[in-house]
Amino acid sequence: MTWNLGAGLEGKGVIVTGAAGGIGRPVTQAFSAAGAKIMAVDVDQEAVDEVVGSLEGDGHIGVGTDLTDLDAQRELVKRARSEFGNVYVLAHLAAVLRRRSSISDVTEEDWDLQLNVNLRASFFLARRVSEVMIEARQGGRIILFTSQGWWSGGFGGAIPYCASKGGIVSIARGLARTLGPEQITVNTVSPGQVATSMLLTDYDPALMQKLVEATPLGRIAEPDEMAGTVVFLASLHAGFISGATINVSGGMLMY
Ligand SMILES: NC(=O)c1ccc[n+]([C@@H]2O[C@H](COP(=O)([O-])OP(=O)(O)OC[C@H]3O[C@@H](n4cnc5c(N)ncnc54)[C@H](O)[C@@H]3O)[C@@H](O)[C@H]2O)c1
Repeated sequence: MTWNLGAGLEGKGVIVTGAAGGIGRPVTQAFSAAGAKIMAVDVDQEAVDEVVGSLEGDGHIGVGTDLTDLDAQRELVKRARSEFGNVYVLAHLAAVLRRRSSISDVTEEDWDLQLNVNLRASFFLARRVSEVMIEARQGGRIILFTSQGWWSGGFGGAIPYCASKGGIVSIARGLARTLGPEQITVNTVSPGQVATSMLLTDYDPALMQKLVEATPLGRIAEPDEMAGTVVFLASLHAGFISGATINVSGGMLMY
């Protein structure tokens, strides 16, 4: 075994959600560089097909589906298991952010959408994948995505989103305790500000400037700067890390 970045991932089945998104795309590519077989999941079939076309190696699958549909979740996990033989990693990035500059503008629909996609779908997908991992008895890695907002409460009108991301940390900690005996690790990645359409949609440039000034590295992150952390958590190097919230914020938060 060579202990490179993706050590242990050669030939392993990996599901990446939000794979057509700003961060999901380089995460998916990094897993393929580590030799994994990837099921790339996002809402739009054409977009995931394009991501799959950019991957190294073969045997990858693109699935366009809405992850709030729990039947669709079951089907995609079943398919990954049958085509890959096993699912060793879930890297779950799919999420939505609806920024509202005034809390008075937050609608019930805003709340329901963000809690449904970001929190409800995450619990049921992680649970479904864990069932397959337990059956295979080969351990596994579940990596969920939170946000600096889980800790800060968010900047620029994102309270329901931050509530969902706080919930992700709780889900990960609870699952880490529950699934540890099966040698399944569960961790979250917590980005600061990353240059993707999620961050840059409806954002106030003056606020962005303040956040950059509050970040010791003095800049926002490029999306591919998140990928190494995800692959690390899935690799042999991270075999004893579970229940952790990995702060990848350029020092904007320190914990
Ligand atoms: N960009 C940032 O600054 C930042 C900061 C903190 C946390 N994050 C987190 O990182 C992760 C990736 O974010 P990003 O910046 O790449 O955002 P993005 O909007 O570029 O990507 C998110 C992807 O999720 C997909 N998605 C949304 N709803 C879905 C659904 N119901 N079913 C299937 N797919 C769905 C979208 O189509 C999109 O491709 C998210 O969990 C986000 O909350 C991002």
